Amino acid sequence: MSQADAPPIIPRIAWGLTGSGHFLRESLALIDALPDVDLFVTKAAVEVLSMYGIPLKSLRDKHRIYQDHTASSVPVGFLYSGHYHTLIIGPATSNTVAKCVAGISDTLVSNLYAQAGKCRVPSIVFACDCEPTVITEAPGRTVTLYPRPIDLENTQRLKTYPYTTVAENIETLQRAIEQRLACLSTSCS
Ligand SMILES: Cc1cc2nc3c(=O)[nH]c(=O)nc-3n(C[C@H](O)[C@H](O)[C@H](O)COP(=O)(O)O)c2cc1C
Repeated sequence: MSQADAPPIIPRIAWGLTGSGHFLRESLALIDALPDVDLFVTKAAVEVLSMYGIPLKSLRDKHRIYQDHTASSVPVGFLYSGHYHTLIIGPATSNTVAKCVAGISDTLVSNLYAQAGKCRVPSIVFACDCEPTVITEAPGRTVTLYPRPIDLENTQRLKTYPYTTVAENIETLQRAIEQRLACLSTSCS
C-alpha cells in the first residue's frame, strides 16, 4: 500500500507510566475510563506494577503497550507521524520529572516528553512530589515520605514549560484530561 492509500491516522493518547507507586492504582482507573490510550512503560514501571500485583499482561487486553527495550526509544517515532494528540505522564516519578525539567531524554517516557515538546504535542504531567509530606501506598503498607526541596522545585519549574500542564493530584489530572479532550472536540490545536 502506498502512503497515499494508507488509512488516515486517528490520533490517540500516549500515556507514559513510570516507576511510581504513588497514585498508581488511581491513574490506572483513569486510563481504564478513557478511550484510545496506548501505554508507554519505563523499565521501573514494569517492576513497580508487578510489585503492586498488577502484571503488565493484565493491561494488554485493552491497550497497546510499548516497553523501554531500545536505547533510542524507537516507539517515540509515532509522535512524528501524528499518532498522538496528547501525551499524559502519570504518575510521574521525581526521576522522570527531573529529567523532563533538565531536558534529558534517556528513558522511553522522558524521551516521549522531549519529542512531544519538539512536535508541539501538549503534555499533561501528573507529578508525584508536589507536597512537603506525601502519604503513599507502598507494596503492602502505607508510608509517609518527605519529598526533597529539589523534587518540589522541579515540579514548580515544569509548570513553566511550554506545551506542558502539571497536575498535582488525581482530581486536577482528571480535569486537565477532560479540558484537553473538550478542546480537541472543538478543534483546538
Ligand atoms: C515499590 C516502589 C515504589 C516507588 N514509588 C515511587 C514514587 O511514588 N515516586 C518516585 O518518585 N519514585 C518511586 N519509586 C522509585 C522509582 O521507581 C525509581 O526512581 C526509578 O528509577 C524511576 O525510573 P523512571 O522514572 O524511569 O520510571 C518507587 C520504587 C519502588 C520499588
